Amino acid sequence: MIAFTRGVPPPESFPAEQLAECARSVLQNDAERVLQYGNAAGYLPLREWIAGECQVSPEQVLIGQGSLQLLDTLVRVSIIPDDCMFVEQPTYDRALTIFRRTGAKLFGINLKNGVLDLQELEAKLADGILPRFIYLIPDFQNPSGALMPLEHRLHLVELARTHGFYLIEDGPYRKLRYKGQAIPTLFELAPEQVIHMSSFSKLISPGLRVGFMLLPPELILKVSKFAEDTYINSSYLNQALAFNFIERGWLQEQIDFLRDIYSVRLNAILDELRKGFREMGTWVEPQGGFFVGLNLDAAHELSTKEEIHQAGLVLTDSQGFFVEGGERFIRLPFCALTPEQIREGMARLHHLLEV
Ligand SMILES: Cc1ncc(COP(=O)(O)O)c(C=O)c1O
Repeated sequence: MIAFTRGVPPPESFPAEQLAECARSVLQNDAERVLQYGNAAGYLPLREWIAGECQVSPEQVLIGQGSLQLLDTLVRVSIIPDDCMFVEQPTYDRALTIFRRTGAKLFGINLKNGVLDLQELEAKLADGILPRFIYLIPDFQNPSGALMPLEHRLHLVELARTHGFYLIEDGPYRKLRYKGQAIPTLFELAPEQVIHMSSFSKLISPGLRVGFMLLPPELILKVSKFAEDTYINSSYLNQALAFNFIERGWLQEQIDFLRDIYSVRLNAILDELRKGFREMGTWVEPQGGFFVGLNLDAAHELSTKEEIHQAGLVLTDSQGFFVEGGERFIRLPFCALTPEQIREGMARLHHLLEV
């Protein structure tokens, strides 16, 4: 079976030996702190490092058990049923599940050829639908691989300022850029209107469960109090491991190593798409991240689960990425598969869509 389901790093990317050294050093030098309960906002040296990187005060940084947990905490303390929320469509399925749970009214704003349809968004605002949050993944979006152009970023922060809502910017793939130049984050453009979240899951290891959120002063206390009342704090040991890894200069080395592996895999999947899928659908060519999204045209149906299984493939149910619809979308994660598996998997997919 070839699984185009897992947006995870491959095991060969894990820096296990280096983390073992970090663990020894942390437990030898900082045991009293990392084995104790701590402040819910997180292990201070890591908060300070993140603050320096993102040019905010450490008081604005909240570290959690992965960034997804922080997103859940944020919406739990901020959303009341009947609030409105906008998301890109398609968007990250787990985030959508978290938003659905709040009882918020969800509106999907379509990505057209990988670009958010701002006219559709403005039409909603003109109809008096005012979101509390707009959730966005501007850099190498999960699931489509899209990159938000600078003009759109500028336009969105302007709308957020004018209408008084927050943008939630989710950026776990930002540093995994395989070509082209970085574009400023929404947070860099308008820190007062943007809640930025990111993670070490895709840069060091998801098993560490270390992610963070940058919050404006009016939200940080509310969110960290809820966190404290719910789980006291997330693992300082894991946060200290991440910090020690960074302090030794290994994060940048690791990112360079990941870029080398993943860019070959991205090229492999793009080659297959260009060779065989032009007649079947469209996709955005990602410059980074973990995913390519294939939009099937009207003449091509996705097969049933059973047929997909018989073809030796596993695909994610795409409707999870959409508030509504999604039947013609296929997410293709490429980082956890070798180039050979990618070629074989794409040949199977081609055959399946042909019949
Ligand atoms: C867009 C996006 N946000 C958040 C996460 C989860 O990150 P974490 O492991 O920090 O909870 C993922 C994981 O796939 C993701 O794709």
